[in-house]
Amino acid sequence: TKKTIAVLPGDGIGPEVTRAAIKVLENIADLHDHEFVFQEGLIGGSAIDEKGAPLPHETKELSALSDGILLGAVGGPKWDHLPGGNRPEKGLLEIRKSLDLYANLRPVKAYASLIESSPLKEEIVADVDFLIVRELTGGLYFGEPKMREENEGEMQAVDTLVYKTSEIKRIAERAFQSARLRKGKVVSVDKANVLESSRLWREIVDDVRGGYPDVELEHMLVDNAAMQLIAQPASFDVIVTENTFGDILSDEASMLTGSLGLLPSASMGSTGVGLYEPVHGSAPDIAGENRANPLAAIASAAMMLKYGFEMEKEAERIEAAIEKVLADGYRTADIASKSEEAVTTAEMTDAVVKALE
Ligand code: NAI
Ligand code: MG
Repeated sequence: TKKTIAVLPGDGIGPEVTRAAIKVLENIADLHDHEFVFQEGLIGGSAIDEKGAPLPHETKELSALSDGILLGAVGGPKWDHLPGGNRPEKGLLEIRKSLDLYANLRPVKAYASLIESSPLKEEIVADVDFLIVRELTGGLYFGEPKMREENEGEMQAVDTLVYKTSEIKRIAERAFQSARLRKGKVVSVDKANVLESSRLWREIVDDVRGGYPDVELEHMLVDNAAMQLIAQPASFDVIVTENTFGDILSDEASMLTGSLGLLPSASMGSTGVGLYEPVHGSAPDIAGENRANPLAAIASAAMMLKYGFEMEKEAERIEAAIEKVLADGYRTADIASKSEEAVTTAEMTDAVVKALE
C-alpha cells in the first residue's frame, strides 16, 4: 500500500525524534511491502524563523493532502518573548483546528522492565494498559462567551461549557470503536451529579452504546476516576471523557508509568487525516545532543499505522520491538537508573530497527 506521510519535525528534539520514527517506518515499509512517501513541512518556531508564521500555508496544504501527519514538538526559549498570536504553539492549535481533530487518543502502558521507575507500587502498575480518548475541540476551552465583566461593583470572569449532541456522539463512537480493538471495556467519565453538559453526555454515550452491544460500558464521576487511576489503574481499558477532564486525567495518567519519553498520542478528526505526536515537548535542555528518547515518537508512528492506516500487524510489530529493546536493557538517559549506562537517540533507534526482524 502506498501512503503519503506529512512530517513536521518542529523544534528542539522534534527533528531528532521524528528522524528516528521515519527510520522505523522505512524499515516496516520494506518488511511489509508498503511504500511510504515522506513530505517535510515547517511548523512552530522554525516556521516562524523561516516563513514568519507558525503554520505556513504550504504546511497546512501538504498536511491536508497527506494520509497522516507525524509531528515532533514545537516551542522553546528562543520564541518565548513573542506575542500569543504568533507563537510556536499557535501552529499546533491551528493545525488541530484546520483538520477538525476532535479526538485525542493517549495510550498508557506499563513496560514490565521499567516498572521500578513508577511512583506507585509495582503490583498496582504491573498490568496497566489503557487508552484515554479525550474530546479535544469542545467544552470549556472553546465555549462562548468567554470574558470579564463588571457585576455589582466587582469584576467577574465567565467561561462557558457547551457540548452539542453531535460532538458527544462522534467522540463516543471513537471510544467504542477503539474498545473493539482492545479489551472491549469503556469507562465514560463525567460529573453528571452537578453538570447539565455531563447529563447530556451520559445520555448520548448510552445511546451510542446501543450500536456496540459487545462493548461493556460503565459511567464514572470524574473525582472518583481521578482516584481510581491511582488506586487501581490496571482496571481500565478505554476511558472516554470531555476536554477539561481529559486534559487533567491524561496528565495524571502519564505519570503512572515513568518517563514522558515513552508516551505517544494520536489526534483524529472528521477528515480522515490524523496527527500523531509524542506527548512530550521540545525539551530544549537536551536538544541537539543525541540524548532524546525516540520511543514516544516511534510509538506515535505505530499509532498512525494502527488507527490511521489500518495496518494493525505492522503497528504491533513496532510495539513488540519497543518492548524488546526495553527488556534487553536499552535505556536512554531519561529512563536509565544511576547504575545503567545510557544509549544515544541513534543507538536506541537502531536497536528498535533491529528488533523488528
Ligand atoms: P518537555 O516535555 O519539552 O520537557 C520536560 C522534561 O522532560 C525536560 O527535562 C526534558 O528534557 C524531558 N524530556 C521530554 N521529552 C523527552 C524525551 N523524548 N527524551 C528525554 N527527555 C525528555 O516540556 P517543557 O520543558 O515544559 O517544555 C519545553 C518546550 O516544549 C516549551 O516551549 C513548551 O511550550 C513546548 N511543549 C510543546 C509540546 C508540543 O509540541 N506538543 C508539548 C509540551 C511542551
Ligand atoms: Mg495538559
